[in-house]
Amino acid sequence: MTAPAAYQRILLKLSGEALMGDQDFGISPEVTAFLAQEIKAVVDIGVQVALVVGGGNIFRGEGLARAGMDRVTGDQMGMLATVINALALQDAIERVGGMQARVQSAIRINEVCEDFIRRKAMRHLEKGRVLVFAAGTGNPFFTTDSAAALRAVEVEADLMLKATKVDGIYTADPKKDPTAKRYEEVTYDEALAKRLGVMDQTAMVLCRDHGMKMCVYDMTVPGALLKIVTGDTAIGTRVN
Ligand code: GTP
Repeated sequence: MTAPAAYQRILLKLSGEALMGDQDFGISPEVTAFLAQEIKAVVDIGVQVALVVGGGNIFRGEGLARAGMDRVTGDQMGMLATVINALALQDAIERVGGMQARVQSAIRINEVCEDFIRRKAMRHLEKGRVLVFAAGTGNPFFTTDSAAALRAVEVEADLMLKATKVDGIYTADPKKDPTAKRYEEVTYDEALAKRLGVMDQTAMVLCRDHGMKMCVYDMTVPGALLKIVTGDTAIGTRVN
């Protein structure tokens, strides 16, 4: 039998790259289907789930910015990329069956999804709908990690999860340094001071100042999300 949920409401941050799987561009249907199943497992035990998704699998502004593109235009293109990913997730989540999903965008794009309205967002979550937040914060110069931190605080999530391809935060890059060790727990102040590179500083400061707990974990491990929300502290790194 599955353990009861340790958190009532979570916000899960997925990078756009996470949706690519083995591809070097775009959206892998296998990955979105896998994520939808992972989410279903936690919805089934009564956890309310909000998602924030990045857009780097579709558009990355850096190359074009280096070639002279206006930064604000590049960031707006990135926001549109996150809307595409959010729609793909909405579709995959509803196709699993037994779950409803809603997309809310920080920029108005009404023909394809709802606007971000905090009070509606809360109602969707209370009704058990998986809510996908799209278009970042709606502003240039902010990352989707910052959007995740902002939305987590706004919807009063009990835990923010950052899904990555490594099982937590390390003292150094484990791919480059074989002596690197995984932190089980770390404070935001330490992560900021040591520039541990888990999220940008804006996002971390927002989480720290609002007491938002975070867990960084390996999203490719089946069942990891369920273990974390049922209180297993042996997985990933907790940031407090
Ligand atoms: P409740 O009001 O709690 O019943 O929520 P609901 O989302 O089921 O009802 P609502 O009538 O708001 O939405 C019905 C459907 O229309 C849902 O799939 C919404 O995501 C969608 N929807 C609502 N507002 C908009 C919008 O501004 N644009 C788009 N494209 N879809 C919307």
